Amino acid sequence: MNRVIVMDHPLIKHKLTFIRDKNTGPKEFRELVKEVAMLMAYEVTRDLPLEDIEIETPLTKTTSQVIAGKKLGIVPILRAGLGMVEGLLNLLPAAKVGHIGLYRNPETLEPVEYYCKLPYDAVERELILLDPMLATGGSAKAAITFLKDRGVTNIKLMCLIAAPEGIKAVHKDHPDVDIYVAGVDEKLNDHAYILPGLGDAGDRLFGTK
Ligand code: PRP
Ligand code: URA
Repeated sequence: MNRVIVMDHPLIKHKLTFIRDKNTGPKEFRELVKEVAMLMAYEVTRDLPLEDIEIETPLTKTTSQVIAGKKLGIVPILRAGLGMVEGLLNLLPAAKVGHIGLYRNPETLEPVEYYCKLPYDAVERELILLDPMLATGGSAKAAITFLKDRGVTNIKLMCLIAAPEGIKAVHKDHPDVDIYVAGVDEKLNDHAYILPGLGDAGDRLFGTK
């Protein structure tokens, strides 16, 4: 059964408040999204396996631990997921980056795929799927299905804000995928926007409205 891991770190809560605030402009919004993604990377990588290696300090030989060569991939859902990539790469510089292009048809609210490019060895990697918003869950469900159709078996979903409806939808279709989220909000409005939410993540990141 998949889990929902809600971040309760004060720094994340603090930064999320200013991400939500409508008076936060695109420059600060982008910086905050990047910073929260970086902080969330701690939790999303908590279960990485470690191995012992021998090293020498300036004083003596010792055994110490390093990450055991686990291959990671980061896959933002375009567009808004792009805002989270740099934050993760700051901590995981060796991760490969794939991209999935999806937009929500404003009338049907159904996700439409327009792009997919993954690392050539994606099936061997643990992939962290990035999207700031999990609203109806349609986009995340479709992106996870695209990854699974291409043979990927190890997927985590990382979002800034999720609606209960989206969590439930992803749970139902993809019980093997854990969801990491900075805040779980109240509900969706009539246009499937998250309340209280942060508005349109893509528009706020890229200043398109
Ligand atoms: C937003 C958001 C998610 C999706 C969430 O993208 O970034 O991908 O909506 O909604 P859902 O859970 O109901 O599918 P949008 O479709 O607005 O595209 P954009 O990132 O290009 O702005
Ligand atoms: N997409 C967004 O960008 N914001 C929402 O609240 C819902 C979907």
